[in-house]
Amino acid sequence: MRVLTGIQPSGDLHIGNYFGSIKQMINAQKENETFIFLANYHALTTVSDGERLKELTLKAAIDFLALGVDPQKSVFWVQSDVKEVLELYWVLSNFTPMGLLERAHSYKDKVAKGILPNHSLFSYPVLMAADILLFSPDIIPVGKDQIQHVEITRDIAVKFNNEYGEIFKLPEYKVEENVATVPGIDGQKMSKSYNNTINIFDEEKKQLKKIKKIVTEAVPLEEPKEWRDCNVYNIAKLFLDEAGQKELQARYERGGEGHGHFKLYLHELIWDYFKPYREKREYYLNHTDEVRDILNEGAKKAKETALPLIEKIRSVTGINY
Ligand code: ADP
Ligand code: TRP
Repeated sequence: MRVLTGIQPSGDLHIGNYFGSIKQMINAQKENETFIFLANYHALTTVSDGERLKELTLKAAIDFLALGVDPQKSVFWVQSDVKEVLELYWVLSNFTPMGLLERAHSYKDKVAKGILPNHSLFSYPVLMAADILLFSPDIIPVGKDQIQHVEITRDIAVKFNNEYGEIFKLPEYKVEENVATVPGIDGQKMSKSYNNTINIFDEEKKQLKKIKKIVTEAVPLEEPKEWRDCNVYNIAKLFLDEAGQKELQARYERGGEGHGHFKLYLHELIWDYFKPYREKREYYLNHTDEVRDILNEGAKKAKETALPLIEKIRSVTGINY
């Protein structure tokens, strides 16, 4: 099975990214052929400082390697190192009805949040379709918010195939249901665009400060507390097995502890969980040449994989006169 995912290097990685996508991808490496790339062209829709994007891209590469992307098992590259994706983007645009993009939730959400509605934001799903279709993957592991983008990809692929024959394989998305949407510190979906994230690699003090800001209901210390829709519980449960979850539920129901206690416990859970990854990250931060070599090697492999398909597309569309 070929599994593919992209992540925008547009900010610090957070726990929503980890449970919604990165963890599944790391696990998928065991049994699948995995393709992972840093979507820096997509990041241009929100990052307009060139130096910053360069920094963020290298940092994202370091973070991913630290979290377990294994270059021996995965093809790992930066989107812009395989330019064929832009060629395919243009070809696919010809098979993308305006209505399909007008219905995209992600576009509407971003505009509602005040991001300038320009063409790249609007055509974002077409570039994402190109990212996917260029490598003929079977599965795209995503968070819930990205399902529609994979559906759009399938629609575009079907339209292209109807015109030119069975060129594209139709990908399936995979959502881990119980972690479909990780809540942020305000209870909305955790997202770097909403400024409500708990970042994986923040310094301890900064991370703790964020955790202390998690919105909770005001209940006197001694009284029992509701865990079901408590933001602290809903994040903590991601780090706990069933027994651990039951134990925490009991602490809520017993009363005698405030949300402050649960927040400290959550901090411990998060800090311990990511300890080995922090150490590995330190190594890559001190060996950036090694990181660049890994990315170059990945881009070479990704390109080799994409070339036969792109040649075929040039041929059927008549681009290669
Ligand atoms: P952000 O919303 O912070 O900008 P991205 O859009 O870069 O995050 O998402 C990268 C990956 O992480 C995607 O697969 C996305 O579905 C997943 N993801 C992001 N936020 C969450 C969340 N709160 N819960 C689950 N998955 C998420
Ligand atoms: N749009 C995705 C996100 O914001 C990132 C992405 C770009 C992607 N291209 C992709 C994800 C291809 C999966 C497959 O999370």
